[in-house]
Formats: sequence, structure tokens, C-alpha cells
Amino acid sequence: MKPPKPFVIYSLLFVFFASCGALIIALALNIAERKSEAQNRYIRLVEVTEDDTDPEKWGINWPKQYDSYLLTAESTRTRFGGHGGSEALPEQKIERDPWLRRMFLGYAFSIDYRDRRGHAYMLEDQENTERLSKPQTGSCLHCHASVMPLYRKLGDGDAMAGFKATHKLSYNEMNDMLHEMGHAHPVSCVDCHDPDSMKLRVTRPGFIDAIQMLAESEAPLPQMPSVERWRKSNRNEPYDPNVLASRSEMRSFVCGQCHVEYYCSSAMPLEFPWSNGLKMEDLEKHWDETVFPSGERFFDYKHKESGAPILKAQHPEFELWSQGVHSRAGVSCSDCHMPYQRDGATKVSDHWVRSPLLNINRACQVCHHVDEREILARAERIQERNFALLQRGGAAIVDLLDAIQAAKARGVSTQDLDSILELQRKAQWRLDYIAAENSMGFHAPQEAARILGEAIDYARQGQAAANAL
Ligand code: HEC
Ligand code: HEC
Ligand code: HEC
Ligand code: HEC
Ligand code: HEC
Repeated sequence: MKPPKPFVIYSLLFVFFASCGALIIALALNIAERKSEAQNRYIRLVEVTEDDTDPEKWGINWPKQYDSYLLTAESTRTRFGGHGGSEALPEQKIERDPWLRRMFLGYAFSIDYRDRRGHAYMLEDQENTERLSKPQTGSCLHCHASVMPLYRKLGDGDAMAGFKATHKLSYNEMNDMLHEMGHAHPVSCVDCHDPDSMKLRVTRPGFIDAIQMLAESEAPLPQMPSVERWRKSNRNEPYDPNVLASRSEMRSFVCGQCHVEYYCSSAMPLEFPWSNGLKMEDLEKHWDETVFPSGERFFDYKHKESGAPILKAQHPEFELWSQGVHSRAGVSCSDCHMPYQRDGATKVSDHWVRSPLLNINRACQVCHHVDEREILARAERIQERNFALLQRGGAAIVDLLDAIQAAKARGVSTQDLDSILELQRKAQWRLDYIAAENSMGFHAPQEAARILGEAIDYARQGQAAANAL
């Protein structure tokens, strides 16, 4: 075989080194591009300010987050969660579980109480609920609209002052003002993000008041290290979540602005009951210690059949989560409900806030290296057990109410029934706490079972006592 001509060798070598060079340059360029992508996640094409409640404008700068945010209008469904979307309105809870309606007799929730659905619907579902057939207060908008500019207007620039005045306005008055000012949007970018830095922040006065009360309490808060640190400081300033909370805490606090137990009527400003801590009993104690401005003992409604002064529980997701193993392990609401998606070198938080069981791969498998079907089975096992205990609780409450009715029919006096009505108040509060919480026990399974166990016990104690009268 003849040796190759030097020319051929040189050309081959040239091609080889040239390709290597090109490859190296391409790689370097790619790395640089990725790095700058990761550092400089976005280019600001338009300025956004505190008054920009329309998410569409923010979408020009942050199209990926905006596009996923829009998906909250999609209809989704799981065994126990994620309802509705395309149909006119989600299913009635009070028809599916008639004991709920019986429990709520005398209150607007016995008229209309439906499944929740995606964030896109929060304002229109509130505007359309038949609970508005009873007079409602402007405080309702705190959690159903991008309401901060309206608070500032009502308080001459001071949002907290504006907020404190809103319970005296009617829902319709406030809602008209919101529409006139052009802020009739569901929860929007500006409610969770600082428009200058895009950092997470909380805006809702109800939450800021409540987390300060909580910080000042004695309740142990291992799930909120920044509160524990503030407690050890000189406490010259009240606890400020926007300054002191870690990013991981903020990933739950933004949701705690709305997914909490509250009281909302024209009698007093909107209030979250956190002065003693976040456990079910701490909240109950807060309400038991509360009196109306009139001096009367606090209650949400008087039960139409029995006359008991009842506490109505509302979606305590933040509170129940705080009692579970996930919060204890530092897992935030957003870890499960807004998991990251990769997009090149950047990570984008999924703004399609929905049931994590529709998204197990990203919501759970980052931590649990178990087959997807197995994870779903574990979650559903928890939920099915909780559901079964909840239905037992429903049956127990109905039996208690029947026993009270029968005692009344026998001519037992209201005075003699007093201690039994206290048991009804305790039993209903506990049952409703888990019924109104939206994870069907998942956020803290053992705590949910404990609360339901107590609900059933109080209801049966009351029933036995009523039968003995
Ligand atoms: C470890 C994961 C995890 C964490 C952390 C978590 N959740 Fe959930 N959440 C779930 C699961 C699972 C469900 C049940 C979903 C279903 O039934 O389809 C759920 C259900 C819900 C629902 C009802 C959803 C629906 O589709 O009907 C709401 C609302 C909710 N969570 C809010 C919160 C809030 C607020 C926090 C933080 C305070 C939080 N969650 C923390 C996993 C989590
Ligand atoms: C401004 C108040 C507000 C904030 C802040 C908020 N939510 Fe909601 N959320 C609502 C309301 C109201 C609904 C029910 C809307 C309806 O049914 O029309 C809802 C519904 C949901 C649902 C049910 C979705 C479905 O498809 O059924 C989930 C899950 C949820 N929220 C989780 C979260 C998480 C997680 C956060 C924090 C990242 C959060 N929310 C922040 C008010 C809020
Ligand atoms: C502290 C925040 C907060 C306040 C105040 C609030 N809501 Fe809600 N609301 C929520 C959250 C969170 C949900 C979704 C979870 C659920 O449905 O349990 C919701 C769901 C709803 C729904 C859909 C499900 C249902 O219950 O039929 C309606 C309607 C509604 N709210 C009406 C009202 C009205 C009327 C008021 C005033 C009396 C009010 N809300 C005040 C947070 C709030
Ligand atoms: C209910 C609260 C909430 C609302 C409303 C909200 N976000 Fe976010 N957003 C979050 C959370 C939580 C993160 C994760 C932040 C972190 O971990 O530092 C996030 C992260 C981001 C980031 C940083 C990059 C990323 O994806 O993690 C951008 C940009 C962003 N959101 C844009 C938007 C835009 C645009 C809107 C309105 C269309 C919006 N957000 C509405 C809660 C919210
Ligand atoms: C950021 C990490 C993280 C994410 C995300 C996460 N988990 Fe967990 N999970 C944990 C940790 C930590 C524990 C506590 C047990 C342990 O230390 O191993 C736990 C415990 C559990 C348990 C047993 C405890 C109990 O409450 O009964 C179940 C079931 C569970 N996770 C399901 C889920 C599901 C379903 C999802 C998704 C919706 C999810 N987890 C998302 C970290 C996570």
C-alpha cells in the first residue's frame, strides 16, 4: 500500500482540528448562553407597577408563568379534588352530603355551597353565589380579587386603613368600585410578587395582622424558623414576613393569605384566629375568647333547629398543613402545588395551581422515588380513610340534632339543653374543620383523624345526654 500524500494528511488534520475548534466554541457559547439565561431570567419589555392588577401586562415580561397561570381556567378532576371548569358551576357539596346542609341550617351555606375550582374563577364564582342573597360585606373581596389598589384608595394611600373600613361597606358597593377602577381580576401577579424585584411578598392585611398575632403567641412554630428567630430578638418591630421570612416560608405564606380559617361579616374587620397558635384547639380558643363589639359572645350563626351558637369553619389548608409531616420537613404549598418545570437552564414555577395528583411526576417524585401509581395509591388511601371517618361524623351530627329535636318535642327547656348545645358547637366545629379543608385529610392525616375522632365523640356524648333528659 502506498503511503498517503502529505497533502491528504494535512487536509484531514486541518478538518479534524477545525471541527474540534468549532465544537469547543459552540460549547463555550452554549454554556455562556445558559448561564446568562439562568442569571437574567427575563427581559423586562414593559414596566409593571403596584397598580397593574391585569396579569396580561405582566405576561409580556413573563410569558411562561402567565401562560401556565391562564390554565387555572381548565377543568380538572381527581377522586376528591379539582372540580369543574367548563360546566356553569361546580357541584353542590350540600346536595352530595345532605348532613352538611342540616349542619348549616340557619346560615347562608345551607343555600349554596359548592366545590372549589381554579383561581381563574374566584371572582365570578363569588359574584354568582346565592349566598349573596343574604347581605354580605365588602371583606369578602379580600381573597377573591386583586383588591390592593382599592384598599389604598379607601385608606387615602394607606392600604391597612382602607382594609379596616371595608367590613362596613356592602359587598355590592365594594364590588362596583372594584369594577369601576378596572381591578376586577382574580388573584394576580402583583398579589404575590413585588413588581420591582419580582420577589415573593405577601400583600393581604388579614394575613399580615394574623402572622403578627401568631408570632407574639407562645405556640411552638418549628415550621416557621424566621418567627422563632424574631421571638429571640429584641422585638422592637412587629414580625414582618416580607423582611424576615425565608424564601421557603414565603412559598407557603403567599397561599396563607387566603387558604385559611377566617371570620368575615359587617360586625368587625376580617380576622384570622391565630392569637393562640395554628392548631384546631388554638383557633377554637381564639373564637371562644372573642366577643362582638356589642358585648355578645362570638358565633357565626345560630343553628335554626337547636339554637346553638355555631362556629363555621372555612378552608383551613394553611393551618392543617402546618400540623403535618410535610410542613415539619420544610415542604411548602408551592413545592406540591406549583412545582418547577425545566426550561433550558432556567426553572419555571408552574403557575397552573391545581391538584398535585394531576402532576405527580413533578409534584411528588422529586422527593419520593417511588412509582407514580404507588404514590397515587398512598395519597388516595389516606383520603379514603379520612372520607370514611368524615361520613361517620356526618351521621353522628345528624343523630345529635335528631336527639335534640326529640328532647324539645318532649318539652325539655332550652336551659336544660345548654350543655348539650355546647357539645353541638364543639362537634360541628371539628367536623366542619375537616370537611371544609380541601385536601380530604392529606395535608395532615393523623391530625385530621384525631379531629374527626373528637367530633364523633362530642356528637355522641351530646346525643346520649339529650336522650337521657
Ligand atoms: C406534600 C404536598 C402538599 C403540600 C406541601 C400542600 N399540599 Fe395541598 N394538596 C396536596 C394533595 C395531594 C391534595 C389532594 C388533591 C386531590 O384530592 O386531588 C391537596 C389538596 C389541596 C387543595 C384542594 C385542591 C383541589 O384540587 O381540590 C387545596 C386548596 C390545597 N391543597 C392548598 C394547599 C395549601 C394552601 C398548602 C400550603 C399551606 C398546601 N396545599 C400544601 C398536596 C400538598
Ligand atoms: C387571593 C386569595 C388566594 C390566594 C393568594 C391563593 N388562593 Fe388558591 N384559591 C382561592 C380561591 C378563592 C379559590 C376557589 C376559586 C373558585 O372556586 O372559584 C382557590 C382555589 C385553589 C385551588 C383549587 C384548584 C382547583 O382546580 O380546584 C388550589 C389547589 C389552590 N387554590 C391552591 C393555592 C396555592 C397553593 C396558593 C399559593 C401558591 C394559593 N392557592 C393562593 C384563593 C386564593
Ligand atoms: C380569607 C380568605 C377568604 C375570604 C375572606 C372569603 N373567601 Fe371565599 N374562598 C376562599 C378560598 C380559599 C376558597 C376556595 C376553597 C374552598 O372553596 O373551600 C373560597 C371559595 C369560595 C366560593 C366557592 C366555593 C363555595 O363555597 O361555594 C365562594 C362562592 C366563596 N368563596 C364566596 C365567598 C363569600 C361570599 C365571602 C364573604 C362572606 C368569601 N368567600 C370570603 C377564601 C376566602
Ligand atoms: C398565588 C401567588 C402567585 C401568583 C398570583 C403569581 N405567582 Fe409567580 N410565583 C409564585 C411562587 C410561589 C413562585 C416561586 C418563587 C420562588 O420559589 O422564589 C413564583 C415565581 C415566579 C417567577 C420566578 C421564576 C419562576 O418561575 O420560579 C416569575 C417570573 C413569576 N412567578 C411571574 C408571575 C407572573 C407573571 C404572574 C401573573 C401572571 C405570577 N407570577 C403570579 C407565586 C405566585
Ligand atoms: C420537597 C420534598 C417532598 C415533596 C415535594 C413531597 N414529599 Fe411527601 N414527604 C416528604 C418528607 C420529608 C416526608 C416525611 C417522611 C420522611 O422523612 O421520609 C414525606 C412523607 C410523605 C408521606 C407519608 C406521611 C404521611 O403524611 O402520611 C406521604 C404519603 C407522602 N409524603 C406523599 C407525598 C405526595 C403524594 C406528594 C406529592 C403531592 C409528596 N409527598 C411530595 C417530602 C416530600
